[in-house]
Amino acid sequence: MTLLPSQVTIVEVGPRDGLQNEKEIVPTDVKIAWINLLSDTGLSVIETSSFVSPKWIPQLADANEVLNGITKKANVRYPVLIPNVKGLEHALAAGVKDIAVFSTASEQFSQKNTHCSVAESIERIAEVVSVAKKHSLGIRAYLSCVLGCPYEGEVAAEKTATLAYKLWQMGCDEISLGDTIGVGTPLKTQHLIQVVTNDVPVTKLAVHFHDTYGQALANIFAALQLGVATIDSATAGLGGCPYAKGASGNVATEDVLYMLQGMGIETDVDLEKVMQASQFISQALHHTSQSKVSLALQSHSKLG
Ligand code: HMG
Ligand code: MG
Repeated sequence: MTLLPSQVTIVEVGPRDGLQNEKEIVPTDVKIAWINLLSDTGLSVIETSSFVSPKWIPQLADANEVLNGITKKANVRYPVLIPNVKGLEHALAAGVKDIAVFSTASEQFSQKNTHCSVAESIERIAEVVSVAKKHSLGIRAYLSCVLGCPYEGEVAAEKTATLAYKLWQMGCDEISLGDTIGVGTPLKTQHLIQVVTNDVPVTKLAVHFHDTYGQALANIFAALQLGVATIDSATAGLGGCPYAKGASGNVATEDVLYMLQGMGIETDVDLEKVMQASQFISQALHHTSQSKVSLALQSHSKLG
């Protein structure tokens, strides 16, 4: 008998990770309307945008306008992705209370994504964390390419574990393990979590799966079995990484919710309302939803 968590927190990353790779610039008012819909679903964390270089991610250059335009709910956190102190300063000016920093155990991915070595990226993060702490911000840290890198192939779990421990010791509240290119499988996922939890408590971990090879839900189940209770996902399965060619979307929030509901795991998130938010953004982007659950329930309601 495996013990699954009774309650899971969903971190909706659609407005940041879901949109950052969209080629056509999405109008700011569409982003705002979508985040407002998401805020009404019961989600407690919505990653809203990023304060990275607009030269590299032009899609999210309107982070300030989005943060000022949304109707913030008291029980919802709206973190933003931050690459350096300059980004943090912009975020603080926009009144941000929660941030996410990011690194990776892959040297080559680090160079492509942030133009620096892994060691330099950890130094940058340390500077960001030290300023963020002075402002009592909530801090999550991402580690990308934890189950494989588009440039280096296999990434040793021990390398990820060393970085996860450093970030936790530095004062990051949560470490999100990212399978950026979706190559992981369930036993590799469990191996990684076992190695990382030798040093970092499982309560500090989140998992972040992309569904490139259709493994995301299986990997999430594998992580739940080891006690991970925070799951990243994006409405409609939006997303991809500009520095990971071929990476498809994040696992769809609807699909994660359906699986958790089916196992009696509480999230406090309303699937119907997430589907409405999903339909809204899919129509605005002229995309077919990547969520199997959305597609099934929509065709079911058409039949019924
Ligand atoms: P850089 O271009 O290498 O060098 O940026 P720089 O630091 O010398 O800056 C160049 C220019 O950018 C300068 O302006 C800076 O002022 C400006 P210029 O003098 O040319 O006019 N600049 C900024 N502007 C606005 N906001 C800032 C900022 N910083 C510098 N914060 C940098 C280095 C790290 C900033 C850049 O490479 C960058 O922004 N990279 C981020 C790219 C990105 O967002 N990638 C996607 C992240 S998603 C991910 O990693 C995976 C994840 O989703 C998990 C998963 O899926 O597994 C988290
Ligand atoms: Mg991602």
